[in-house]
Amino acid sequence: MSKKILSAVLAAAMTAMLAACGGSSTATTAAPAETKAEETKAEETKAEETKAEESKAEEAPAAELETVQKGKLVMVTNAEFPPYEFHDQNAIVGIDVEIAGAIAEQLGLELEIEDIAFDSIIPEIVSGKADIGAAGMTVTEDRKQNVDFSDTYAHATQVIIVKEDSEIKGVADLEGKIMGVQQGTTGDIYVSGDYGDAAVERYAKGMEAVQALAQGKVDAVVIDGEPAKQYIKEVEGLKIIDESYTDEDYAIAIKKGNTAMVEAVNAALAELKSEGKLDEIVAKYIQAEE
Ligand code: ARG
Repeated sequence: MSKKILSAVLAAAMTAMLAACGGSSTATTAAPAETKAEETKAEETKAEETKAEESKAEEAPAAELETVQKGKLVMVTNAEFPPYEFHDQNAIVGIDVEIAGAIAEQLGLELEIEDIAFDSIIPEIVSGKADIGAAGMTVTEDRKQNVDFSDTYAHATQVIIVKEDSEIKGVADLEGKIMGVQQGTTGDIYVSGDYGDAAVERYAKGMEAVQALAQGKVDAVVIDGEPAKQYIKEVEGLKIIDESYTDEDYAIAIKKGNTAMVEAVNAALAELKSEGKLDEIVAKYIQAEE
């Protein structure tokens, strides 16, 4: 407690004591009546508060939300994915980190982040080691077999990165080419599905796929649009082609059947959306295109 607050509290306590003693100073003469009025008021407010709390508890399961670690919201992510999650010196920052932070705050929990391989995120959620997977994760029917998803919070595309002088101008030109992807991502899943395993080189990090492209080890990289923009800023001689590969939506992954967590996260997300906070977070990391 700060000294200022402490002395204010002491002063208030002394006034109350004086009032209780029924001293004769002008300040205390009026006190009994006031105190009474205040008491009833206080009681009323208390009653109102309890009521408010009760109805709140009914609509917000967050009040009894069970988490993997008491008092914490454990988030698993793969912080190789700017601007959604990336390392800034020793910290992990980004859009997902801020969204998860705001959700944790609304739920009265402390956010804890675990940075793991992208394709370990769903297994960690399934085995109950983490409460949420927030990793620019695309909602897919296959993933829905293993985890539940929150409402979506971002729209995304898979784009194709090529060398500036590449002959690849669109999706149709990918036939017979070797594509670099981040292991386990939708880029990996779609490209493997469409062209077969032999056409795919998998990397642990998106940036590694991009470097392989620059070194001529692969002909193209299929990866999410926003990280793609960041990666090509750091590696010379690359471009994103206009035609995108897919459209998709990001959501937060939660253990299957944990409806309390899904509802709590959705309620918090809705609040962030309506307050304009979500847009604010996104605008901090993604500048509108000129
Ligand atoms: N949106 C893609 C997917 O869900 C890629 C996500 C990669 N995220 C990450 N943090 N590395 O598969």
